[in-house]
Amino acid sequence: MIDFILTEKEFDKNNIPWNGNRFLIGNGYFGIRGTLEEYTKEYMCAVNMAGIYDRAGDAWRETVNAPNPLYTYIKVNGKKYALPENEPVSHIQMLDFENGIHSRKTVWKTENGEITIKCERFASMSRRHLIAMKYTFSSDFECDAEIITGIDGDVWDINGPHFVNMRTGYDDGVNYVTGVTGEKNISVTVRDTINADFNAAVESENTENGVYRHIFFKAETGKEYSIEKIAEVTTSEDDFKTQGDIADITYYGLKAEHTAEWSRIWDVSKITIDGDDEAMYALNYSIYHLNCIAPRELKGKSIAARGLSGQVYKGAVFWDTEMFMIDYYIHTEPQIAKTLLQYRIDTLNGARTKAEEYGLKGAYYAWESQDGGYEGCSDYNVTDVFTKRPMRTHFRDKQYHVSAAIVYGLMKYINATGDYDILNEGAMDMVVECARFYRSLLIKKADEPYYEIHDVVGPDEYHERVNNNAYTNRMAKFVFDTALELIEKYPSDEYDDLKIMLKDSSEKIFIRKPDENGIIEQFDSYFKLEDVRVDEVRSRLIDPKEYWGGAYGVAADTQVIKQADVVAMLSMFKDDYTSEIMEKNLKYYEPRTEHGSSLSACMYSLLSCYTNKPETAYPMFMKSAKADLIKGGKEWAGLVYIGGTHPAAAGGAWIVAVKGFAGITEEDGKLICKPNIPEKWQGMSFKLMYRNKLYAVRIDRENAAITEI
Ligand code: BGC
Repeated sequence: MIDFILTEKEFDKNNIPWNGNRFLIGNGYFGIRGTLEEYTKEYMCAVNMAGIYDRAGDAWRETVNAPNPLYTYIKVNGKKYALPENEPVSHIQMLDFENGIHSRKTVWKTENGEITIKCERFASMSRRHLIAMKYTFSSDFECDAEIITGIDGDVWDINGPHFVNMRTGYDDGVNYVTGVTGEKNISVTVRDTINADFNAAVESENTENGVYRHIFFKAETGKEYSIEKIAEVTTSEDDFKTQGDIADITYYGLKAEHTAEWSRIWDVSKITIDGDDEAMYALNYSIYHLNCIAPRELKGKSIAARGLSGQVYKGAVFWDTEMFMIDYYIHTEPQIAKTLLQYRIDTLNGARTKAEEYGLKGAYYAWESQDGGYEGCSDYNVTDVFTKRPMRTHFRDKQYHVSAAIVYGLMKYINATGDYDILNEGAMDMVVECARFYRSLLIKKADEPYYEIHDVVGPDEYHERVNNNAYTNRMAKFVFDTALELIEKYPSDEYDDLKIMLKDSSEKIFIRKPDENGIIEQFDSYFKLEDVRVDEVRSRLIDPKEYWGGAYGVAADTQVIKQADVVAMLSMFKDDYTSEIMEKNLKYYEPRTEHGSSLSACMYSLLSCYTNKPETAYPMFMKSAKADLIKGGKEWAGLVYIGGTHPAAAGGAWIVAVKGFAGITEEDGKLICKPNIPEKWQGMSFKLMYRNKLYAVRIDRENAAITEI
């Protein structure tokens, strides 16, 4: 059995941002970056709050980071020892992702001998307002030691500061920092208590935005001195209450509850792969991240594109959730999938407002959706590296396919859960409004019989304002068909006129067919663009951070695309195409795809599985599963920082494993398994929720069985 432990054995300052992502812990209510206890904001520490947004001045709106209750460092004989300033003798950082526990151990050499600090912490999965930490000091000589630990309200912000008002203080053994946001007066309060197993003199210190304890003690040679901290985070927007008084909660009591909760989660979500430990490790690491960010207990909240790893991408929700992540939740904890959809239902008015803004009808969901469906995406979403000026991009106004992704996600949920009630709880309006939206996009040339959609940005964002993007048109048809099907299932006079319109739209929308070579052209005149390969386009960059798309980007006039577009369409509508067509398109588009988005690899992998090519699918699957394990992911779009965790890639890896390699599909309300696993895999086993029942799937090289548990 392999251990689900991620380890870094040496300290490298350059890895600080990346480690912040890959060593993340979280419980859906907040995510805590994998930074070290002594770090301050310059090293990108964050307790990133789910769904709490603020806008400071004219800057981009983004999620809020809570004051950091983990802030702790050591002084020995009056001298501070901390990373990255003091070179350590040894250092190890670990994430036990089976149990959601982060730890580190660092040894420094001092004038008198060596000192060691160890720290373990977790974001409580059982009581989601809580964070727990155990910090231990020892030295191989006698010394005067001081542990400084507190709540640091001087938080890392990309577009902050968000707290316009800070209150700090202590009350009956509990320290607190409250920050109040400027835009909506949301308060975020962090409180902490500590418990020490040794005699010490404690002094308190209050600053404008922090509150600290200085714990002084005489350390004996070789003896360990530990403090345990329980911290509580609450906001004025909370969906659920705190449980218990932090003064009464013990570190080990909470840890036992926390690990029990993780083991309950893993019982359903773990995937075993026989014969390939590396794949099993990476896949379950991806699943770990999906569990850290799942909005359990939250009401109508969704997941941001970078999960809870910080304010990157403004903490906004993209199509990533419904296209790449929701499948995992549907089949492990469907209630979470429903919460994600509830977020879209609740933000329908925001989508209506956006449609109106562009003179369109129905619901045009935000490309970067924040609370209330507020559109976080600006018209100038990339900063040009040369002029340093904001660059006009069309993600916000032309990426029409986002509304369809939501309907697609909803139907995956309904088909797999049988929960048609959601339609009466607002989802029917959502589907109808999305259908109205696509109807309002249709245009017709005088002498052509069909409808077209012009001036679009498809999933491949490098080519803006194109006509008849194959993916977008096909998704629009899917929305028309879905709305029609649901209206027929639940007839209402209200929809009579709409039915006629939907039928007409579905029948007449232009759906591009494969050409004489079997290739589906991504959009009108795409084949006329310069036909070069990705490396050639890359070699034309003047600056490595330069944006490839937009009006002048190096890819814009070429056939090089950012990510799966036609390939995404084929994998989503695989039953409409022959294996030969799928294969031809894979071969055509793969060398022309930069995979500049972490959403891309899984789509190529999935389509390879659908064409019975598991060996071709494998490297792309691993790329997706390792998106957060391998250094060097894309961190810049122009001058905008876009690093963070990649939950869509994690969800995509899960989809490939379950729907691709294991070949799980649904036929007439039943789960079917038609596996096609890579050569070196001896088998797979996992559990799946389907229509309110839990199933065990067991695959080996000869057999596949699905049994109800
Ligand atoms: C991709 C989008 C994606 C977004 C957030 C962009 O780089 O092109 O498709 O939704 O990142 O992950």
